[in-house]
Amino acid sequence: MLDIAYDWDRAFPASQRSWSMFEQRGASFTPRVAGGGRGVTDSMLNFSGVWRFRELLPFWKHAPNGQSDIVSVGEGRTNLQQADLLAQHLGFDLDNGGGLFLEYEGFNPSGSFKDNGMTAAFTHARMVGASRVACASTGNTSASLAMYAALTGMEAFVFIGEGKIAYGKLSQALDYGAKTLQVAGDFDACLARVRAIAETRPELGVYLMNSVNPFRLEGQKTIMLRILEGLNWQIPDWIVVPGGNLGNCSAFAKAFMELKDLGMIDRIPRLAIINAMGARTLDRIVNEQGVVWNGGRYEKSKVDEEYARMDRENDQASTVASAIEINRPVNLPKALRAIEIMDGVVRSFDDETIVEHKSLVGRYGFGCEPASGASIAGARGLLEEGLIKPTDRVACVLTGHQLKDPDVTVNYHTGLPTKQVQRWLSEQSAENPSGSVSNRPIRVADDIEAIIAAMGE
Ligand code: F0G
Repeated sequence: MLDIAYDWDRAFPASQRSWSMFEQRGASFTPRVAGGGRGVTDSMLNFSGVWRFRELLPFWKHAPNGQSDIVSVGEGRTNLQQADLLAQHLGFDLDNGGGLFLEYEGFNPSGSFKDNGMTAAFTHARMVGASRVACASTGNTSASLAMYAALTGMEAFVFIGEGKIAYGKLSQALDYGAKTLQVAGDFDACLARVRAIAETRPELGVYLMNSVNPFRLEGQKTIMLRILEGLNWQIPDWIVVPGGNLGNCSAFAKAFMELKDLGMIDRIPRLAIINAMGARTLDRIVNEQGVVWNGGRYEKSKVDEEYARMDRENDQASTVASAIEINRPVNLPKALRAIEIMDGVVRSFDDETIVEHKSLVGRYGFGCEPASGASIAGARGLLEEGLIKPTDRVACVLTGHQLKDPDVTVNYHTGLPTKQVQRWLSEQSAENPSGSVSNRPIRVADDIEAIIAAMGE
């Protein structure tokens, strides 16, 4: 795996390091972000929630005319929502400093946090003259890749597993014109194939856009910068994030490690990585096998053993949170480093709990896709465990938009598979759904008194 290290004294000298510079840029409402076009100026970059922190990912370069090679569509203009009602529901002590903050990455142009990383990786792809890009994906990576490829005129290839993608995400890849290959295998198989194509078939000129690409992670660091900005540059106690391929958690820890090295923060928050119970490879490797970073010399044999066991027992990832339905997380070593840097923990929750917490996010006015609900399930679970204190300030990353996977949402609220819902609305009766905030439509005659009566139900 490659990791990016900078000569900070040259790239971002101590005399220039200040939060207020980033803050001033954030106030920019310049709408002239030339989406993918050549020659994005500094004032346009200030609009991007990634590139206004450009000194902290200084791999890009200025072209001779003073303009940069950066590819941007104004991604990362997300916000940190203080979710007091949800916090109270979960048991935070708001009167004594506790708080729950939701980093709402669904606000990105393609509807997930992936845009933070893609803008950086496409910038690098352009710097090296790539014209064909590819990824394996559970959906969001492909949506984001397809969008940036369309904007830059690059040719896009998307590898998806059989039947493993939420429709909202598939529709995006198709709409943005990516060549979409449904491989007869799961996400891990798709990733292995696309890596082999990018790494061993140079004649095809395919630039790999999965998060093994370290430039992706450079962009994803800025999610943490925006959380700090939202908290007035104060450090929260915990960052909670779903874990799939483990790019995000790796990027987050790198951000804090670098900020500490730069002397811009004096404390690093703790990290909770949340797996789905049906895809808890990291949880097993960390909590059952006891694998730790150990300065990079982690016990790889234990990881290999675990993978061999999974193959032998045909232990395949399976979760309703399809975004994180992954067997072999490609960023595992970096995630182990992240756990070390941020004194991290790993936990898993079953599908029912994840969807229940996804639904609570919606019920309290924010909304996210199932995988993102894992971070809220994690916050609650760690509160109950006593590891997170009610007086802690906790930032949960909502990684993807509510509309990415409406099937899971409709199913939760009606108790029916999506295809049956429309039929049910006209003819069938059904059991009541069991979720604590399930909210099924009410069938009612076309009659004003009946409607008013139903309104009171
Ligand atoms: N949340 C969402 C909504 C995701 O789409 C993903 C990953 C994750 C969490 C996990 O993030 O991989 O950095 O640990 N989705 C990838 C994809 C795998 O192909 O879209 P991670």
